[in-house]
Amino acid sequence: SMPSHVKVVEVGPRDGLQNEKIIIPTSIKIELIHKLTYTGLSVIEATSFVSPKWVPQLADAKDVMKGIPSIERIHFPVLTPNIKGFEAAIAAGAKDIAVFASASEAFSKSNINCSIKDSLGRYRDVTKAAKALGVPVRGYVSCVIGCPIEGAISPTKVAYVAKQLFEMGCFEISLGDTIGVGTPGTVIPMLHAVMSAVPVEKLAVHFHDTYGQSLPNILASLQMGIAVVDSSVAGLGGCPYAKGASGNVATEDVVYMLNGLGITTNVDLTKLMAAGDFICNHLGRESGSKTAVALSKI
Ligand code: HMG
Ligand code: MG
Repeated sequence: SMPSHVKVVEVGPRDGLQNEKIIIPTSIKIELIHKLTYTGLSVIEATSFVSPKWVPQLADAKDVMKGIPSIERIHFPVLTPNIKGFEAAIAAGAKDIAVFASASEAFSKSNINCSIKDSLGRYRDVTKAAKALGVPVRGYVSCVIGCPIEGAISPTKVAYVAKQLFEMGCFEISLGDTIGVGTPGTVIPMLHAVMSAVPVEKLAVHFHDTYGQSLPNILASLQMGIAVVDSSVAGLGGCPYAKGASGNVATEDVVYMLNGLGITTNVDLTKLMAAGDFICNHLGRESGSKTAVALSKI
């Protein structure tokens, strides 16, 4: 049955911005995060401690962290691909982190330059170090439906990687349709496979909207009991190592749908749109959220 409350995980400042070609000033990133803190969101993924050669846009991670307000009820997780990133994140004041594995061997190689097995080894070291400091770790699985190189990915592989992340101590596993090729026809069987390996209350869904399938996919996920949804304000985003991947589902559109379903989020749509307007004005681009476009015309 459907959850009565959904936790929305805002990934805009990280997933939304990481693919932008022109370097965005650190002050703009910080202002975006500040605007998002006024909306009621409880999780705002802030940046990544990854190689600046691989993701130049997020090379200012340390400085972004300096601008993050200390608000007790809001978590500001950051991505860490290895111990080096973990140590840098902690030194910069991060209190929550996320690791990211892939269900596709080829994507693992192109995104983090190692095999799935090696990545899980690194993440065991990271989760161990995090546990010692009492830092919660979120685990991502990418390419849960398809891979830009390998094509279709088997649900069994997704369930395997999700279970490994769960068993090493990740408190939540976010299932990423990195290139946005899923429909409820492929998402439902994938979720069934993962739910047989990891408890449903530990799962989140992370859809990119390449084919406009995110909302039906989210609805199907909710109907299967999932209560954590990742999204990006104004639908910003895309993965730099996933060619053709468009932005994440827009947070405004997710909140509009959840409001319509009578599912609470604590997120204020008007304030969310203000954050979206701010970053779209900076980027000189119209919002990728249909809800934001529609409501701005009323
Ligand atoms: P590598 O080249 O194999 O790393 O990259 P290395 O260990 O051989 O080190 C090479 C250089 O990188 C060295 O510097 C290291 O110090 C440095 P040099 O000596 O050449 O000057 N280095 C680092 N610098 C800063 N922070 C670090 C770090 N680690 C090493 N943490 C590595 C391996 C994993 C580092 C690289 O491939 C990388 O950074 N990849 C990140 C890719 C990425 O961020 N992708 C996007 C996020 S995933 C995503 O978007 C999907 C998701 O949204 C879910 C979904 O949609 O499905 C999460
Ligand atoms: Mg993503």
